[in-house]
Amino acid sequence: MDSHLELRGCKTHEELHAVVELCDAAFDKTAKEYFERHLFNDTTLSLDDTRILLKDGVIVSSVQVFPRTIYIGGKRVLVGGIGNVATLPSERKKGHAEKVLRDSMDYVKRKGFKVSLLTTTINEFYEKFGFKTIKRQLIHLNVLPRTDQSRVRVVDWGRDMDRVMQLYDEYNTGSTGPIVRDAAYWQTQFGFCGEDEKLFLVWEEGKEIRGYVRGSKDTDSTRILEYAVRDGEEQILRTLLEDLSFRTRQPKLEVFVSGSEKKRLPFLQLSESEVETSFMIAFFDDAFDTDIRMGSLDEGDFTFWLTDYF
Ligand SMILES: CC(C)(COP(=O)(O)OP(=O)(O)OC[C@H]1O[C@@H](n2cnc3c(N)ncnc32)[C@H](O)[C@@H]1OP(=O)(O)O)[C@@H](O)C(=O)NCCC(=O)NCCS
Repeated sequence: MDSHLELRGCKTHEELHAVVELCDAAFDKTAKEYFERHLFNDTTLSLDDTRILLKDGVIVSSVQVFPRTIYIGGKRVLVGGIGNVATLPSERKKGHAEKVLRDSMDYVKRKGFKVSLLTTTINEFYEKFGFKTIKRQLIHLNVLPRTDQSRVRVVDWGRDMDRVMQLYDEYNTGSTGPIVRDAAYWQTQFGFCGEDEKLFLVWEEGKEIRGYVRGSKDTDSTRILEYAVRDGEEQILRTLLEDLSFRTRQPKLEVFVSGSEKKRLPFLQLSESEVETSFMIAFFDDAFDTDIRMGSLDEGDFTFWLTDYF
């Protein structure tokens, strides 16, 4: 007898819990805690945003569509971020993920999103759904000696929130790719991104915050998750990075940057770098002109901070 297949969004929290179990079974190298954080703590995600395929009433494949807004060419653009594409190991290679992804793409368009984004190591699989690879740079920074750190301290969110949010906006509004963040988004991001708060550092003089960096400690390097400084204050960022490196006791720092970000910060150009291809984009709207499409793809001119990953 043929199996009964049903494609739809989750309807209950029990189904969402079942999707966490499914992701845990599907992804060998990712802890269950990661999926719990991203599916339960992200308050932007509705039940319907988790798309599922049921086979005879059992969830066998799933995808999340994370609703976001990003800056592109000075405009605010609605984005459906695709995350956690997963099929039960026993149900693979039967076209299940393809079905859920096609449903997710329809859902993204129905909701009025103009762009979709995802990260992957199996880029070819997503090309059939219209995604193209963005070639960004992974920069390896050398050990930075710690100099005068008297103005660097760990963030105190209650006190620093307004100024950090303002710095983020000043630094990112003119770029292509960064998320448009309001206070509610910042709060929910703390809940899902899993950062170590002691590695969220601000540079302060008097009562004024003029730069910040957020980092995470990996096995043999420190990842720079995000940063912002005022225009022309590159030296402040360098000081923050020195302090970050000191706190993690890791000699190497790594950061993913866009082409324009690399031009904006001359010290990045002196460092070792490699082309990085894990980020993909699909445009659904002809309104994006060729410059934006080609700039994003060929020159990797697309900024997306690791704190925003879904
Ligand atoms: C990737 C995944 C969701 C595919 O699910 P599925 O239901 O088997 O997918 P479909 O049957 O619709 O399509 C199968 C196609 O997926 C692609 N694919 C799956 N795993 C792949 C891998 N590790 N490398 C390259 N391509 C892969 C292939 O194109 C494959 O086609 P083929 O059988 O002709 O080679 C599933 O393998 C999975 O859950 N993997 C672990 C989690 C994961 O890596 N998710 C993707 C994160 S971006």
